[in-house]
Amino acid sequence: MSPRARSAEVLERSERPQPGLVGRGVAARSRRAPAALSRGSAARTAKLSDVGVFAIANQKGGVGKTTTAVNLAAAVAAAGHRALIVDIDPQANATVGLGQPRALSPNVYDVLCGACDAEQAIHETPVDRLWLMPAGSGLVGASVELPTVPGSERRLHDALAPLRERFSFVLIDCPPSLGPLTVNALVAADSVIVPVQTEYFALEGLAQVLDTIGLIQREFNPRLSVGGLLLTMHDNRTRLGRDVERDVREHFPGLVFDTVIPRNIRLSEAPSFGVPVTLHAPFCAGSDAYVALAREVAGDG
Ligand SMILES: Nc1ncnc2c1ncn2[C@@H]1O[C@H](COP(=O)(O)OP(=O)(O)OP(=O)(O)O)[C@@H](O)[C@H]1O
Ligand SMILES: [Mg+2]
Repeated sequence: MSPRARSAEVLERSERPQPGLVGRGVAARSRRAPAALSRGSAARTAKLSDVGVFAIANQKGGVGKTTTAVNLAAAVAAAGHRALIVDIDPQANATVGLGQPRALSPNVYDVLCGACDAEQAIHETPVDRLWLMPAGSGLVGASVELPTVPGSERRLHDALAPLRERFSFVLIDCPPSLGPLTVNALVAADSVIVPVQTEYFALEGLAQVLDTIGLIQREFNPRLSVGGLLLTMHDNRTRLGRDVERDVREHFPGLVFDTVIPRNIRLSEAPSFGVPVTLHAPFCAGSDAYVALAREVAGDG
């Protein structure tokens, strides 16, 4: 089977009806994508610029979740908004990518355990107006601990509630799984941004992550909406990249961000300097793309 045909098959699977996402009495707008999945449909209770808390999620590994969380947050902060990154991934890549020690505390694990308030677990970063709630080494065991505590899926939601006034944007960097940590993030979030690498294998996870968003919406968080699919690591010179972009846009009309993140070496080297690309290389294509995405998300000119 050709990559094109295979990617179409994967997308076909992701078209299964998702009752939670269409459960607001909105008729499907097209055969291909449930209406409530479309950006701008009634499932989106607010403009993106009105959304406070975004989860950056896809259980597929290495698709650009952390790169997006760090650089979108930095670009939003550069545009004048107060932003917070919550690193809920035990890999702590967002924490390290912002120049902080992996074991920095207090951290999100301490918050999830109830050992401290969210306010105490907020740390400064090298970026003005951008704060970080770091991961913490304890997160490694949290996926085992959390399910044993009834109601634990709401812990992050409850902890972040007092911070909503303080920050215009909160971005939660999720681990590459749909386990208890990602569930906590989706219950706490108003909206989900799903990075999709414009390569054939990355499409594999799309159906599952959209199903999970529907499940969380039905069971825990009716206000959760899909903020959008974000095409990442795009190489417009390859036929596969162009095919995947076209397929995703055709199958999810209105749901894919206009901004496409190109494959860009500056984006991949910035974490080793402990800063976002907007500080590391402010005039590269990767920086431009995240600034454009921030405008799309924040609704700025
Ligand atoms: N647009 C890009 N151009 C070049 N490299 C990129 C780009 N986006 C991400 N990368 C690199 O690809 C790798 C994976 O990216 P990233 O860590 O953001 O993915 P992730 O989805 O958070 O991964 P994980 O699932 O492990 O948490 C990293 O080495 C990162 O620097
Ligand atoms: Mg990551």
